[in-house]
Amino acid sequence: MSPSVSDDPKPVRKAVIPAAGLGTRFLPFSKAVPKEMLPVIDRPVIQYVVEEAVDAGITDILIITSRYKKSIEDHFDRLLDLEAHLEAKGKIDEADEIRALSELAQLHFVRQGEALGLGHAIGVARNHVGDEPFVVLLGDDIMHRRAGVLKGMIDAYNDHHCSVVALMEVDPADISAYGCAVAEPHADRLVKVNGLVEKPPPEDAPSSLAIMGRYLFTPAIFDEIERTEPGVGGEIQITDAMLSLLDSEMMLGFTFSDGRFDTGKKIDYLRAVVEFALERDDLGPEFRTILAEITERENLSR
Ligand code: G1P
Repeated sequence: MSPSVSDDPKPVRKAVIPAAGLGTRFLPFSKAVPKEMLPVIDRPVIQYVVEEAVDAGITDILIITSRYKKSIEDHFDRLLDLEAHLEAKGKIDEADEIRALSELAQLHFVRQGEALGLGHAIGVARNHVGDEPFVVLLGDDIMHRRAGVLKGMIDAYNDHHCSVVALMEVDPADISAYGCAVAEPHADRLVKVNGLVEKPPPEDAPSSLAIMGRYLFTPAIFDEIERTEPGVGGEIQITDAMLSLLDSEMMLGFTFSDGRFDTGKKIDYLRAVVEFALERDDLGPEFRTILAEITERENLSR
């Protein structure tokens, strides 16, 4: 099968961040505050996701929200009163930091009116994205810079001109929480995707290679989404649309093994807070000492 290759592919400039989900795994916190607004130290999860996209060269970001997610929009908007207040107090760095949030990229927002699934949420971006390749970053997954996932995926697209999905080996017992890929080695960290299935029971899973929340799609995905019937959980699944895309286009997987935090999962959220705090110049040294004290006390009381 030939990949959909043109000699001069359009550059990847646009990102779509689905952030419309309810976040039931983080109740009661997520009752009144979107799960994407959970703080990892002093910034919300979605800010890490937006910064990752900007870091990878993305200049236009569409965030798919829903009712009750207004605080996400507010976070990236100008807040002139606060800027003026900080400036009047001489807190120029803080004022600059607040302003910079609205200048990270061209940010746009659109609502997914009905919660019909991740595939449907991505489909909502069709008019905005148009006829260009684009990346999708799930709004509650943080990828550490060291994993180089989005950049690696964009490099793969620039070399091979096809859709690319982030993949990680998981414990076979956990595969039912993920989209699952069947793939063969291609080059270096890349595999060629031959099959996909959304959230298979472990006993039926064809592999333990799981889809992690980063995708790069050619615009052909939109027709496939429109044709996709509700699947697992009665939702329009992006994994099903990707499986159909495989009939007409090649798809690569970018494999990695470390540096992903699913902040919708409490234990992963805690790991994110600890890792990112340890890396901060203003907090790391003191926090390291505190962690060592806690660990020592825990060990002594065992
Ligand atoms: C979604 C996708 C799934 C993917 C996962 C990654 O599932 O449907 O294929 O593996 O994200 O986090 P969700 O976590 O929304 O249930």
